[in-house]
Amino acid sequence: MTPETQPSPFQPNLLAGQIALVTGGGTGIGAGISQALARHGADIVLASRRRAHLEPVAAQVQQLGREALVRELDVRDSEACERVVEQTLDRFGRIDLLVNSAAGNFLARAAELSEKGWRAVVEIVLNGTFNMSQAVYPALRDSGGGSIVNITTTYVGSGAPFMAHSGAAKAGVLNLTRTLAVEWGGDGIRVNAVAPGLVEGTEGARRLAESIGVVDDYRERVPLGRLVSIDDVAATVLFLTSDAASQITGVEITVDGGESLGGAFKQLGSRLPSTEA
Ligand code: COA
Repeated sequence: MTPETQPSPFQPNLLAGQIALVTGGGTGIGAGISQALARHGADIVLASRRRAHLEPVAAQVQQLGREALVRELDVRDSEACERVVEQTLDRFGRIDLLVNSAAGNFLARAAELSEKGWRAVVEIVLNGTFNMSQAVYPALRDSGGGSIVNITTTYVGSGAPFMAHSGAAKAGVLNLTRTLAVEWGGDGIRVNAVAPGLVEGTEGARRLAESIGVVDDYRERVPLGRLVSIDDVAATVLFLTSDAASQITGVEITVDGGESLGGAFKQLGSRLPSTEA
């Protein structure tokens, strides 16, 4: 897993005593989020398809002095999601936080995308987020409230050429975020989203950018001058799950160094004639 490289801006007891369930917690963003939540006092349930990915993250969580429960889970299976919630309650007695980080994606022309490929991504991203959220809802409610954070993406707002499956599914997740924020607000459950741009050191970056050699072009378009890190994304999740965000629900926070705000036009500045004498 990726070690936390920056000192945390948050107090180490930010989430003391809380129980967090993280899907896709074995790799990339999900692993970094799990580590960050543990570093700030939460015990973690790590759930994803491959146990081999989860074990090292669990060891890291334990090294941070927190408990870790590892569960193999395909979020497309709603009954399996319910079982993981039951096992979490058996072990910890409550659930306070859910991070829906499980995802799948690959580049493909829409005209050539197989039905199975479309379904695989939409079912993991959209159905999986719904399945896990619905499964965890009674536990969050019975814990007196809690927080759900969904991982979306910057291309939800712009369209997603060559990622039609992922773009459509993530757009659905954003809408679901807003809907559940309203439906479950009365139970003290906040539902928010984090939309990362290209995150360095992730499978997404390798599959969607490095494999076709567009990372340098992308970096050029980032107004703040660098790709975002897993730590940047995890810090935003920490904020949203913390009491600092106790009146924030139904929002999506973009973490992309400003790239989606017209970064493609950034280079124009160097070509514009200056009016300075
Ligand atoms: N290009 C084109 N089609 C692809 C593909 C790729 N890179 N990867 C998967 N597919 C297609 C498969 O060909 C299959 O369709 P087909 O039988 O009609 O050919 C379909 O998607 C399902 O693939 P399969 O691997 O059987 O499904 P899965 O449920 O095990 O995998 C995926 C899910 C598709 C998301 C897979 O890419 C995956 O597991 N990825 C790992 C996680 C990930 O993507 N992380 C990055 C997040 S940004």
